[in-house]
Amino acid sequence: MEFKGSNLIKLLLLTQCLTVLCVSQNYDFFYFVRQWPGSYCNTNRSYCYPTTGKPAADFGIHGLWPNRNDGSYPSNCDPNSQFNPSEVSNITSKLQSHWPTLACPTNNGTRFWAHEWEKHGTCSMSKLNQHDYFELAIKLKQKTDLKQTFRNAGINPNGGPYSLSNMKEAIKKAFGFTPHIDCNVDASGKSQLFQVYMCVNRTGSNFIECPVFPRGGRCKPSIMFPVF
Ligand SMILES: *[C@@H]1O[C@H](CO)[C@@H](O)[C@H](O)[C@H]1NC(C)=O
Ligand SMILES: *[C@@H]1O[C@H](CO)[C@@H](O)[C@H](O)[C@H]1NC(C)=O
Ligand SMILES: *[C@@H]1O[C@H](CO)[C@@H](O)[C@H](O)[C@H]1NC(C)=O
Ligand SMILES: *[C@@H]1O[C@H](CO)[C@@H](O)[C@H](O)[C@H]1NC(C)=O
Repeated sequence: MEFKGSNLIKLLLLTQCLTVLCVSQNYDFFYFVRQWPGSYCNTNRSYCYPTTGKPAADFGIHGLWPNRNDGSYPSNCDPNSQFNPSEVSNITSKLQSHWPTLACPTNNGTRFWAHEWEKHGTCSMSKLNQHDYFELAIKLKQKTDLKQTFRNAGINPNGGPYSLSNMKEAIKKAFGFTPHIDCNVDASGKSQLFQVYMCVNRTGSNFIECPVFPRGGRCKPSIMFPVF
């Protein structure tokens, strides 16, 4: 009995420690991920423009994702916190232009933002409420204009191909940190620039060197940069 009891206490203590650990180390940094709409839309995947019309020919936000230094990430951290459009009502038009949905069936973006908030944003609620989470992503995008950065390096959405390492170098030169670049394939099977990941510290205030890169770089050394 005594033995069992002390084991139970140990188990309880362990569970509590783990809970504390989970809360305090839920995430270490953010991936700030942007997508090139031309590379979303020229695959065989179905896509639609949002109801607000064709998005700008710019890298749109995909998400701001809490991640851990060991490469894992938390998700769906608070099922009770649903996306609430009224929290972002004073930045809705900015969301429409900087964070446009490309998914079918066509819609106004609310579903995309709700998914991003519920899956990812709820995991950084200890630092950022809904409004601040979305506003932060917009500010991060405005601080790091990827299209202009590439243009300055002679890299333009004209098909390409371009060297993957030159693309990474252009971003590193402009902002000081090496990005992760993710590719997909166009309908004819060519590797193309799809998403750019940059890392942001836990509080969201600074870009940082990525503690870990996502697994699997699907890019070829030479990649397309399609027109949009
Ligand atoms: C927008 O609304 C949020 C609360 O929902 C508020 O904190 C923020 O200051 C508002 N921003 C502007 C520019 O009015
Ligand atoms: C977006 O669409 C949803 C669902 O149709 C609707 O409830 C919501 O009011 C729309 N929001 C805006 C900002 O147009
Ligand atoms: C896209 O569709 C075309 C025509 O059906 C097919 O030849 C091609 O292999 C497909 N490409 C991909 C990446 O699925
Ligand atoms: C994020 O960067 C800011 C500015 O350098 C710094 O004050 C803050 O402590 C950093 N937060 C973390 C968790 O690294």
